[in-house]
Amino acid sequence: MIEMEKIVSLAKRRGFIFPGSEIYGGLGGIWDYGPLGVALKQNIKKEWWKMFVESREDIYGIDTAILMNAKVWEASGHVKNFVDPMIDCRKCKMRFRADKLDPARGCPNCGANDFTKSRPFNMMFKTYVGPVEDAATLTYLRPETAQGMFVNFKNVLDSMHPKLPFGIAQIGKAFRNEVTPGNFIFRIREFEQMEIEYFIKPDQWQESFEYWLSEIRRWLDYLGIKKGVHEREVPREERAHYSMRTVDIEFDFPFGREELYGIAYRTDFDLKNHSKFSGVDLSYTDEESKTKFIPHVIEPTFGVDRTFLALLVSSYRQEKDRIVLSLPAKFSPIKVAVFPLLANKPALVEKARSVYSMLRNSYSKMSAAVFWDDRGNIGKRYYSQDEIGTPWCITIDFQTLDDDTVTIRDRDTTGQQRIKIEKIIDWISEKLNR
Ligand code: GAP
Repeated sequence: MIEMEKIVSLAKRRGFIFPGSEIYGGLGGIWDYGPLGVALKQNIKKEWWKMFVESREDIYGIDTAILMNAKVWEASGHVKNFVDPMIDCRKCKMRFRADKLDPARGCPNCGANDFTKSRPFNMMFKTYVGPVEDAATLTYLRPETAQGMFVNFKNVLDSMHPKLPFGIAQIGKAFRNEVTPGNFIFRIREFEQMEIEYFIKPDQWQESFEYWLSEIRRWLDYLGIKKGVHEREVPREERAHYSMRTVDIEFDFPFGREELYGIAYRTDFDLKNHSKFSGVDLSYTDEESKTKFIPHVIEPTFGVDRTFLALLVSSYRQEKDRIVLSLPAKFSPIKVAVFPLLANKPALVEKARSVYSMLRNSYSKMSAAVFWDDRGNIGKRYYSQDEIGTPWCITIDFQTLDDDTVTIRDRDTTGQQRIKIEKIIDWISEKLNR
């Protein structure tokens, strides 16, 4: 198993992830994504959206606001139930999750054995809307994207006229004031979720649950995350307040087996409560049977940042003389790097520049980010690309000047083949769309 420090250091050194507000000493549980990080993260979201929204007839994508009427969070149960038990060490004043600490072993920070009583701590970030700060203007940064889907259920129904079963999906930020953030981007206070609320007739829940579990497996397969995945039936006492059944999809991270994704049967809990609190009827009329009822919900949920981390962990390989990120090409931040064999031969540089421009200009055809490098020697350039997961490197050498062929080097095998410049775009498009 690889060590976490290696991943964190690679991520920082190569521009994937930086500590948030770093020049001011950082901010606990907050991270920023750099140039390569944002590319990888966008690829995750883009591929997820393609698989679960664009390629399906039964899922409607939306994008709702982070700030919502505070009543949403009362109706959803988050004001009352979205709490973690918290205890403080009286000696060093450090704060811990009571359920993650063994008091018999003393304070993990100073060793003292003098804790306060455990008390509930609500994880929602508070804020105020408008210039007056009082109870009437108080609201929260959303702790899950799910509620945006529930409160727009009727809008989607009235505007798109879907028939059950159908789903609403969105990708967006969520915020949780975690008591103990940590393990790099695993548990953070500002993160992104990709969620689907799939509305069904109540008697379809078991079948739909199994179906969505298999869809999560399909997505993991697509990510190339094949090893270290486990499914755990979550016992009743650990389930969220709204769930009748939850399965956690866990992954063997370097710091242990932890939750990557989840799937929950939320029953009609959310729509029923929003109907009650808002006074708006959120039921659905089945045209065939002429019955009116509140649909039930199966919710597969995916963390973007945890996907990112699992992808780094599962693709990181330390070989004898190189580090390789064997990311599936679709997810790699850069798809193709272009090098002139020697940077001090103008004819080579000029030719390489023309290949580089040709590839850049055909972005809309290939959808492939292209990178230029003429620093150091060719071996170093290859290794530099291997480490960030670039699947193909193209080198322009002296033979190119004679016959318009280049070498394409494969990241995983390090094997090279020669192809005609005019064939490169089709070659890459074909590989990317396989
Ligand atoms: N709408 C259901 C829901 O929010 P959850 O299990 O609390 O369920 C869903 O969160 C997913 O969001 C998790 O499986 C995880 O991938 C991600 N997630 C939750 N809390 C997180 C945190 N503090 N940092 C990073 N990702 C988090």
